[in-house]
Amino acid sequence: MNIAILARPTGKNNADRLLAAAKKRGHKAQVVDYTKVYCNVEKNRPQIFYNGKPLPHFDAVIPRIAISSQSYGSVIIRQFEMMNVFTTTGSLAFLRARDKLRSMQLLARNNIDIPKTVVARETKDVERLLELVGGTPVIIKVARGSLGVGVVLAETKKAARSIIQAFLTQDVNILVQEFIAEADGQDVRVFIIDDQVVAAMKRKTLDEDEFRSNINLGGVGEPVTLTKKEASVAKRAARLMHLSIAGVDILRSKRGPLVMEVNAFPMLTGIEATTKIDIADKIIEYVERSVGAKIKKDKVGV
Ligand SMILES: Nc1ncnc2c1ncn2[C@@H]1O[C@H](COP(=O)(O)OP(=O)(O)O)[C@@H](O)[C@H]1O
Ligand SMILES: [Mg+2]
Repeated sequence: MNIAILARPTGKNNADRLLAAAKKRGHKAQVVDYTKVYCNVEKNRPQIFYNGKPLPHFDAVIPRIAISSQSYGSVIIRQFEMMNVFTTTGSLAFLRARDKLRSMQLLARNNIDIPKTVVARETKDVERLLELVGGTPVIIKVARGSLGVGVVLAETKKAARSIIQAFLTQDVNILVQEFIAEADGQDVRVFIIDDQVVAAMKRKTLDEDEFRSNINLGGVGEPVTLTKKEASVAKRAARLMHLSIAGVDILRSKRGPLVMEVNAFPMLTGIEATTKIDIADKIIEYVERSVGAKIKKDKVGV
């Protein structure tokens, strides 16, 4: 097969892992910087150009789209979709996943347990807002944040009020969330490929003054055995988001597993190192199974 990995040449997106895995399994593969791609959207003749030349035919694309260029990334994925090229992540699905508000609404509507969450555009009634999530401490999250940046713990009403005001006056969409204290700076990352759990790890911060477990913020991973419920919730969350590759983050709370986030482009290296599972290889294996099979339409609708 000929596979394109759609990624910026930043070295931060694990495109190199996917490239190596594809080659190891005997495929032709290349990293295509989607920000340098342009398309011809003419009737009946979609074409994609790169560095001034038409791109060769690809059997599959594996997108790893950066936050900084996600709208253009979605355009390019869509162009491949229009050309009936198999993509491991759909253009609609990844944009949906990048918006935490939208994701939480979708999951909650489908009876997935999530931390109590409210959204607001108004700062007048902060009191009531805080009450709805059970009072301080609360988590305040930027709707389009990533890598732990844009997630704030407000311990007092005073702090919560000014943080909420600061975000809203900047016209940033936020969500206010119950702080799951018993998670104790830990969460569980479940890696899903094609409706199966392929790896899972517990992440925890080593910093006493940190509540975020993100690996890039100094969190460390260790292998973990999922409960049946955690595995089934993670699979269902990925399915609801129409993501065949997903990193589902779960908080272990007193009332059971709560889905905190569903990542469309989960990092491979951290969880591969922790679990010794070759996830890149499994992604390529999934591509092999999928090329030529019927493409599942995104019917999520929101
Ligand atoms: N409601 C919460 N209660 C406790 N900890 C949380 C909560 N929400 C997020 N966290 C912590 O903050 C980290 C980052 O939050 P997350 O929603 O995953 O944002 P990001 O997309 O930036 O990674 C999580 O991995 C978790 O450790
Ligand atoms: Mg996260």
